[in-house]
Amino acid sequence: MVRIHDALDTATSASDSASDPAQRDEAIDEAAFDQHLDEIPQELNEPADAGPSERAVSVDVDRRDAVNQQPDLKLVVISNRVAPFDPNKPQTGGLAAALEPVVQRSGAVWIGSSENRGDGSEHPLPLVKTGAGEVARLELPAKDYPGYYRGFSNSTLWPALHSLPDQMSGSEEDYQSYRNINDFIARAAFDVRDRDAFWVHDYHLLPLGAALHDLGIERPTGFFLHTPWPAPDMIERVPNHRELMKSMLEYDLLGFQTNRDLNNFVAGLRAVFGLESKDDVVTTERGQTRLQKFPIGIDPKQFAEYLAADLAPAEHEKVSSLLRNFEGAKFAIGVDRLDYTKGIDKRVEGFNQLLRNEPHSISLLQIAPSSRADVEEYQKYKDVVENAINRVNNKHGTDEWRPIHYTNDSFSQAALARLYRAAKIGVVTPLRDGMNLVAKEYVAAQDPQDPGVLVLSKFAGAAEDFNENEALLVDPNHPEEIAAAISKAANMPLEERVARWRSMMDKIESFTIHDWSADNIRELDKSRLIIPADECLRFGLGWTNEAQMPLYRRHAEALAAYNDIDPADTALKEAAFEDEKRAYEALQAPLIHTQDRLWDLPADTAPIGGRPEQDPGAAEY
Ligand code: G6P
Repeated sequence: MVRIHDALDTATSASDSASDPAQRDEAIDEAAFDQHLDEIPQELNEPADAGPSERAVSVDVDRRDAVNQQPDLKLVVISNRVAPFDPNKPQTGGLAAALEPVVQRSGAVWIGSSENRGDGSEHPLPLVKTGAGEVARLELPAKDYPGYYRGFSNSTLWPALHSLPDQMSGSEEDYQSYRNINDFIARAAFDVRDRDAFWVHDYHLLPLGAALHDLGIERPTGFFLHTPWPAPDMIERVPNHRELMKSMLEYDLLGFQTNRDLNNFVAGLRAVFGLESKDDVVTTERGQTRLQKFPIGIDPKQFAEYLAADLAPAEHEKVSSLLRNFEGAKFAIGVDRLDYTKGIDKRVEGFNQLLRNEPHSISLLQIAPSSRADVEEYQKYKDVVENAINRVNNKHGTDEWRPIHYTNDSFSQAALARLYRAAKIGVVTPLRDGMNLVAKEYVAAQDPQDPGVLVLSKFAGAAEDFNENEALLVDPNHPEEIAAAISKAANMPLEERVARWRSMMDKIESFTIHDWSADNIRELDKSRLIIPADECLRFGLGWTNEAQMPLYRRHAEALAAYNDIDPADTALKEAAFEDEKRAYEALQAPLIHTQDRLWDLPADTAPIGGRPEQDPGAAEY
C-alpha cells in the first residue's frame, strides 16, 4: 500500500542514527529532564475533594492547560460489532449497547464490521456521521471472514475464554484468517492514524494493536476485554496463545471487567512467559503495558426514561401480549442471547425442580434471541434448550397454565425495561460471563417501592459488584441452588427486597457506563502525553508515550556514566560509548513515528521554520 510506505519513509528519514555521544554531552540538561520525570505525576495529582467525574474533568483540563491546550482526545474505537444507532432496533450484546452512547457523545470514529462481505480490496474508510461521532462499517474479506468469526473467534477463543474446553474447535487456517482480518482492519484504520488514540474492543481483535504498530501507527492503544479471561491452564489450550498474548502486550493499556480476569491474565503471563508484573504494569522490550479493571455499567437514568417513553405500536402489542400470559401471577424473567455460556438449560432444570417441590408456584419468561446461528455448537444448544423447555412444560403445565414462555424474538431496550419491571424475579445464571449487563438492567428497571429480586450466578462479572446481601448468588451448574433461590426470592418480604435493591441501585448509580468510558479514556490519555511540549523541543522529540519513559531513564544513566569517565581511560570510555549508543538506539526506535506530532503544536511552542529546534551539537533526534 503506497500510502503506508510513503508515511513510513518520511518518518524514517526524519530521524537518523546516533552520532558521537561526546557531541551530545553538553546538549542534554539532565537535571531538568529528571526534574520533569519527578514532577509529572504530581501535575496529574487529583484534588483531594473532587468526586469521580469532577476529577476526570479537572485532570484533563489541567493537563491540557499545562501542556499545550490539546483539544479532547480524538478517539478511534474499533470492535467487530457496531451498534445499529436506531433506538427501535434491538442491541446485540453488551458491547454494542455500551459503546453507542460513548461514540455518539464523544465524537469518536467507530470502525467495525458491516453485514456485507468484500473481496479484500482496500477502500478509503466509509465514514458515516452519527451524533457527534462517525461510524465506518467495513466489508471484511469474504475469504477470511468464516475462519475469523465463526472459526477462531467464536469456536476457539469464545469457549476458552469462558472456560468451556469441551466446546472448543478450530484449525490453523482459522487462526490465519483471524490474523488476516486483524491486519485488514489495521490497514483500514491507517486512514485515521492521526487521531489521538485507539481503543480496541473484545476477543475478535486481540492482535490488532500489534497490527497497528506494524504499520507504523504509534498512537497510544488501549484494549478492553468484554468477556472473562480464564486461568492459565485454560488459555494454554488455545493454539498460538503465546503469540496472541505477546501481541496483547503491544497495547499500552489492557482493561478487564473484574479482578478475577485481571489476576488470571497476570498469572497467565507468569505461566506462559515467566513474566512478572509490578503494580499491574508489565514491562517488555516494547515498553510498558498497564493492566486495569474497569467494571462496565449501564445508564440508569436512561433506563428510567425508557420506562416513561411510549413504545412503537407493534412492539407495544408484542409486550402486552407477552404480559397477558402472566396476568395476576408472579413470574421470573431471563434474557440472554441463545448461547451455551448463559446456562439456560440448567436454569430450566432449576424450574423443573422448583415445580416438583412447589407445583404451579411460578412461571418463567425466557427471551433468547438466536445468536451465531452458523456455529455448530450454537445450533446444538438451541435444541438442548428447547427440548428442556418442552419437557418442563409437558410435565408441569396444564390446559390453563404454561410454566415457561419462550421466545427467540429480540426486543428494544425500552421494551425490555417494561418486561423487567413486571417480573418479580430476574434470573441471570450464566456459567461464566464478562459482566452481564442484564443483571444491572433488571435492577435499574425495578419499582423502588416494590422491587423484584435478582438471582445471580456467582460466575458472572456482576457478582464481583453485587454481594450476597444484595443479590441471591447461586452456582449456575447446580439447578437445585437455582430452584431454592427462586423460591426464596418469590417469598421474600418487602422490607428485605427494598434493602437489597437499594444497595445494588446505589452501586449502579455510582459507576455508570459514562464513568466506565471516562475512566478508560482517562487512563488511555495517560499513555499519550507525559513530556510537556516545551521540554520535548529540548530533545527535538515529538509527543511521546509513557511506555517510553524507562528508555529515557536508561539513556540518561548511560550518558551520565559516559561523561563521568576520564577520557584518558580509553578502553572504559569506549565501552561506555557503546553502552550509551545502544541505549540511545533503543530510545530512538519507537520515537520515529511520533515526530509528526510536532507540527500540530500551537504557534508559540512550534519549532521555527517547521523543523525541530536543534541543540548545538545535538544529534538529529
Ligand atoms: C458478547 C461479546 C460481544 C459481541 C456480543 C454479540 O457480548 O462480548 O463482542 O458483540 O456478544 O455477539 P455477536 O457475535 O452477535 O456480535
